[in-house]
Amino acid sequence: MSDIEVIKKEIVEQITNASDLKALDDVRVNALGKKGRITELLKTLGSMPMEERIEFGKQINAVKAELDTLLTNQKQVLETKQLNEKLKKEVIDVTLPCRPETQGRIHPISKVYEEVVAIFSEMGFEVADGPEIEDQFHNFNALNTPPNHPARQMQDTFYVNNDVTKEFDKDSAYVVRTQTSSVQIRTMEKKQPPIRIIAPGRTYRSDYDATHTPMFHQVEGLVVDKKTTMADLKGCLYDFMKEFFEVDDLKVRFRPSFFPFTEPSAEMDIGCLKSKTELKIGTGNDWLEVLGCGMVHPNVLKACGIDPEEYQGFAFGVGMDRLAMLKYGIPDLRTFFESDVRWIKNYGFAPLDISAMTLGLSGNGGLTR
Ligand code: DAH
Repeated sequence: MSDIEVIKKEIVEQITNASDLKALDDVRVNALGKKGRITELLKTLGSMPMEERIEFGKQINAVKAELDTLLTNQKQVLETKQLNEKLKKEVIDVTLPCRPETQGRIHPISKVYEEVVAIFSEMGFEVADGPEIEDQFHNFNALNTPPNHPARQMQDTFYVNNDVTKEFDKDSAYVVRTQTSSVQIRTMEKKQPPIRIIAPGRTYRSDYDATHTPMFHQVEGLVVDKKTTMADLKGCLYDFMKEFFEVDDLKVRFRPSFFPFTEPSAEMDIGCLKSKTELKIGTGNDWLEVLGCGMVHPNVLKACGIDPEEYQGFAFGVGMDRLAMLKYGIPDLRTFFESDVRWIKNYGFAPLDISAMTLGLSGNGGLTR
């Protein structure tokens, strides 16, 4: 056997015996690297007579090509082996019960969102949605609030310049919705009665103190049908509040109020006990305002192509952050949005807590908090 054949045999053996990718790469470097055995042989070509050089050159190059192929194949084999070992190590038993998460927490607003949806779903409401950047037709005009209507001043609106090539024009500008009431319009435009929806979501107003933040959350409700009365409105909201605050004999009252999109309009209060240090819901002789509501104004139905002679509806709007503050005893709204880990550890909820009427609304089996 010629020298080159011996060397080749040895290298082939080393390739087959390499047990991992690192070992294989060492073999490659020792054979074909800058100072590898085959490379060294190639270097001797220069000093050979022409005839021999041609012959030997061919031989070495053939060996080199053969080794290259072997190395590539073996690399693939080892890579597959390594991947299989890794997969085997990382195998997950999906049938295992999940462990309670110890770090993450559900934000109180997400919790309230789920609770509100759970209660209204049980009553047969669907969840509707609409855009947060809204035109003034949906946010105001169609809600019986035309330009210059004094009620527009009830809400400090953020305007959005939707055409930067033109000078800002307040009348045609978009707004970030000031109220989820815009979803009433979007729903009625798309769907004929009977309608029974809630629309939870973000809303925006230029306001900032302990009970106001520029972004906050509301849930809107809308029911439109042939026979919808103020009694339906009161019953529905009373049931909701009882379920939400988990107080069976909750006291409530409705006070006359004004909203441009409802007639008559009302505000709903719940009975509570206010002292310097605490607020208790369900006892005491004090009152706390929780929402605005009323019978849908005929102009609103007309703006959406629904005949007010045939249909009536009721609507309501609740601040979800306020509900969270009241139910879970959180005194300052601004803290909701400060992303302070200590705060969420204190006020947040266990991730596996499911809000469902059948499980007890705010917690399941004591896992809460
Ligand atoms: N959109 C009102 C607000 O943001 C709340 C509201 C009041 C909504 C009465 C309604 C309603 O649907 O009927 O202040």
